[in-house]
Amino acid sequence: MTSIALNSLRFSIQFWFDFHLVKSWFEHMNFASFEEAKSFFDTNKKMINATPFVKWVGWKRQIMPQLKKLFPTEFNNYHEPFLWGWAVFFALQKKQSFLSDVNAELINTYQVIKDKPKKLIKFLETCNHSKDFYTEIRAWDRQENWQENFTDVQRAGRFIYLNRTCFNWLYRVNSKWQFNVPIGSYANPDFVQKENITNVSKLLKETKAIIKLQSFKDVLKNAKSWDFVYFDPPYDTLSETANFTSYNESWFARNMQIELRDVFVKLDKMWCKVMMSNHNTDFIREIYSGFKFEIVKARRNVNSNWAWRGEVEEIVVMNY
Ligand SMILES: C[S@@+](CC[C@H](N)C(=O)[O-])C[C@H]1O[C@@H](n2cnc3c(N)ncnc32)[C@H](O)[C@@H]1O
Repeated sequence: MTSIALNSLRFSIQFWFDFHLVKSWFEHMNFASFEEAKSFFDTNKKMINATPFVKWVGWKRQIMPQLKKLFPTEFNNYHEPFLWGWAVFFALQKKQSFLSDVNAELINTYQVIKDKPKKLIKFLETCNHSKDFYTEIRAWDRQENWQENFTDVQRAGRFIYLNRTCFNWLYRVNSKWQFNVPIGSYANPDFVQKENITNVSKLLKETKAIIKLQSFKDVLKNAKSWDFVYFDPPYDTLSETANFTSYNESWFARNMQIELRDVFVKLDKMWCKVMMSNHNTDFIREIYSGFKFEIVKARRNVNSNWAWRGEVEEIVVMNY
């Protein structure tokens, strides 16, 4: 174990911080002493404990304690090509991480949070939550070339507002790629998130995160040997009725799962450390046979079919 890893371990034990997160900041800040490190962590506690600004039924935070045990201890750069709520980046906070997704509105929102948090908060404070307002702002994407009619800040505000006020925080688009989730029934939805957006912005800046709108396949352009790549794609279907893969422009059917497997294999040959989460189906086990499997348990409270609610098994595939 390197001296940085050893010091991080001693520090995280002594001060009750998570090992992976501490190690990233030790590498990042090059502290001269534990005292200096301690004051950094105390001063930046709010930034380090920022939470994802988007909510989601399947988000990883629920199983993070199980996933963390499977992270590699030593690696160079970090890549998260299926980003949404960036739960794993949150646990690592690695400098210059490559954070990407194909959802243009999501990536625009990350960029705006990083560069223009104050303007974004100001816009969100003008959003008067009501059924009419919800219907009006949701309908923006029914306009021709709608993204040209609104500023990046307005689009980011719309994305966060809809995510925090829609039914079950679902993200779904119709065949015209228009957001079509009905309004949720939350008494006092906190969509402004002033303090959290400020902290997320600081974290993206401090860690110099690289945010990109791209397909998962483009990870091959940036990844180098000894990098760690975590894939959290739309999951393989548990059954025909339970298939919910319509995140955005790209349906993620089994042909895409196979394309992802091919990228996994290429990264393996490049000496990258690769981890992939998915439903524990025969299909996934078959196409990844030969790699290492771990099963983690997750709860699903949202499914139109009661039978699919409750505990589900997720598989974690690794090449290390
Ligand atoms: C299961 S979510 C990721 C959840 C995330 N790990 C979290 O903690 O919140 C899957 C993400 O993959 C993105 N996605 C779908 N198809 C993609 C593709 N072809 N390339 C890159 N991202 C894609 C979706 O936009 C969505 O944000």
